[in-house]
Amino acid sequence: MMSAVGAAVGLGNIWKFPYITGEYGGGAFVLVYLITVLLVGFSVMISEMLIGYMGRRDCVANFENLAPRHKSRWKYAGWMGLTGSLVMIYYSVVIGWIFHYITVALTQLPTNVKEAESVFGVMMTQSPGTQIFYHTIAFLITTAVVAKGIKGGIEKMNLILMPALMGILAVMFIYAITLDGFSQAYSYMFTPDWSKLTSEAFVSAVGHAFFTLSLGMGSIMVYSASLPKEGNMVHSSLFVIAGDTIIALVAGLVLFTFLFQYGAEPGKGPGLVFISLPAVFYEMGTIGNLFSVLFFIALAFAGLTSAVSLVEPMVQYLIDKFDMSRLKAAVAMGLFFYLFGIVAIFSQIEGNASYLTWGGKNFFDWADYMTSAVLLPIAGLAMAVFVGFVIEKERIVSVLKPQMGWFFPVWYFSVRYIAPVALVVVMLNLMGVIQF
Ligand code: PHE
Repeated sequence: MMSAVGAAVGLGNIWKFPYITGEYGGGAFVLVYLITVLLVGFSVMISEMLIGYMGRRDCVANFENLAPRHKSRWKYAGWMGLTGSLVMIYYSVVIGWIFHYITVALTQLPTNVKEAESVFGVMMTQSPGTQIFYHTIAFLITTAVVAKGIKGGIEKMNLILMPALMGILAVMFIYAITLDGFSQAYSYMFTPDWSKLTSEAFVSAVGHAFFTLSLGMGSIMVYSASLPKEGNMVHSSLFVIAGDTIIALVAGLVLFTFLFQYGAEPGKGPGLVFISLPAVFYEMGTIGNLFSVLFFIALAFAGLTSAVSLVEPMVQYLIDKFDMSRLKAAVAMGLFFYLFGIVAIFSQIEGNASYLTWGGKNFFDWADYMTSAVLLPIAGLAMAVFVGFVIEKERIVSVLKPQMGWFFPVWYFSVRYIAPVALVVVMLNLMGVIQF
């Protein structure tokens, strides 16, 4: 369970959630996101856990074994395990940026937003060497921990890094409460302005709910395969969802408080924590200096505990299917995201961008877009249909009814109808078939 929380709490919570909230104008987006988490995220998470818990193997084998017929076709749904490794192509690069920013925070913070923009811009578009160096460190740590296994590596890492991360956020949160900007941040995040809510915001909320809860990539599935038989999936998923949501909201409140306190813009996009925030930390003086180091360390911890979970499903598959040693499997998947990660780095370097860009998106952006916007909703839909319509109801009842009681029919209804409809709407919207 700790590994599932470690997987869920990641860059999505601390880096992505605040900036997309900023992009879509605050309160209304937060509300839609929370409703999506409860209506769609919760029911799909139980479905993913159930597939892992009943199947007890890697993703592909689980779909194959649990499908009553068309086994060889359902097997393909198990390839959702690959999505995490595709995410790692850019996720590892971003963890590298964070490592670099720990050194920026330790040496010299940019003194204003203009300078911060140039620090970030130079790193991203002109310094392949720096990025490859830190991406290599992210690759080495991730691969070493995965090679040590779930119990000996991933779980141990989570048991140390997660409490440290929470401690750091808690200290920053307590400080934020004492600032005037806090009430502004609070009303920004919790007062909905419906005029700002576009269909794009709705689609992003669903996509982000999946990403942040680590759904649709097999991570939750492979961890659930080692849940004890008497484990309770409703409690486990509520625990993961509550932990993940609280951390995202706290991170958002802290960041927006600092930004508002020093008159910075909330809607700055992906550069929020790398551009606006460092400049704000500088203005805060000594405490800002200290916080900047702590903040990037916390962000690195969040990233690493998620990274290992992103790779694990494919590693598990290679071990199960080809009898590979764990070390070999971890190195194989590590090299996969490492090498493509280097391509992602070069796709953002000035001058190279032209031949690594298609349809207005460079390779880095494609790795993000294809996974969050396309593959995750497809995998979510596949799991909801699989659990809602394919696995025999009696088998599901016998496992879940004792754990759920009266809630079972509500959940089952949501898996069969609410989640698939929401996911189909998202996909049609992305394909441009419907606009609202
Ligand atoms: N949930 C993680 C985040 O918010 C990303 C992730 C997805 C990690 C899937 C593991 C598996 O950053």
